[in-house]
Amino acid sequence: MSDIVLSVTGLTKTYHDHSEQSLILKDLSLQVEEHEFVCLLGPSGCGKTTFLRCIAGFEGYEGSIKINGSERKGPKNDVMMVFQDFNQLFPWKTVEKNVQYPLKLSGIRNAGELKAHSDRALSEVRLNGYEHYYPHQLSGGMKQRVAIAKAFCLKPRMILMDEPFAALDAMTRRDLQKQILELYNKEHCTVLFVTHNIQEALILGTRTIVLQKEGRIVLDEPNLLKKPVTPADPDYGTVWKKLESAIYMEGDR
Ligand SMILES: Nc1ncnc2c1ncn2[C@@H]1O[C@H](COP(=O)(O)OP(=O)(O)OP(=O)(O)O)[C@@H](O)[C@H]1O
Ligand SMILES: [Mg+2]
Repeated sequence: MSDIVLSVTGLTKTYHDHSEQSLILKDLSLQVEEHEFVCLLGPSGCGKTTFLRCIAGFEGYEGSIKINGSERKGPKNDVMMVFQDFNQLFPWKTVEKNVQYPLKLSGIRNAGELKAHSDRALSEVRLNGYEHYYPHQLSGGMKQRVAIAKAFCLKPRMILMDEPFAALDAMTRRDLQKQILELYNKEHCTVLFVTHNIQEALILGTRTIVLQKEGRIVLDEPNLLKKPVTPADPDYGTVWKKLESAIYMEGDR
């Protein structure tokens, strides 16, 4: 059996707004093994982003979240998060400086070493030649590639991706899906990937989880479709329908 990278036990998350309390995640438990690519689906508002933010260490919570066996007490660079938002880069820093930022935070100070890391990460996402561009000079797809390079360059144990391709056109999205799969295989990392797109989950994932209200897991199964996954696979339609009915089971179509 592979190593357990993420172990979540009895995770409960409540937001307190003024006098109101809202329960977002209730007693959620989940384990993810090394080199799994877990795709997380579920209706809007069921707590997917909140779940990722808790794992990344951005939120307080009740229960336990362990990465490699140690309790998560705040953000650390062994877990990196990529957001949907095209504005997740520092607008005043160049592409290269954005990618180097987490490296600097991790203690790397040597200019040559920083450059070697950022050059490598940028070439993985095919952005060589754009090192000195600023975010406003890039397309949405290029910004997401910088965010991916930034997340991967420290070789984290786990990458959390929150609908990173949702705002991209279909062609760019396909291109980035291919790149993320290449990186995942090359870097042997573990991924937790939120998407609203069933096809994307089936193309990318090795395992699919569907959440409902309060983070209740209603489906958790390996993605056994033969890679590379195509809708022409005879089992594709059946798996697609099963996921669709798990996502829409509570009727908020
Ligand atoms: N900072 C906050 N304070 C109070 N409530 C919040 C906060 N952030 C999120 N919520 C609430 O938590 C619930 C879950 O939100 P979350 O963003 O995790 O859902 P989601 O599954 O990611 O939805 P979507 O698919 O639309 O991105 C929502 O009801 C939202 O209003
Ligand atoms: Mg969300």
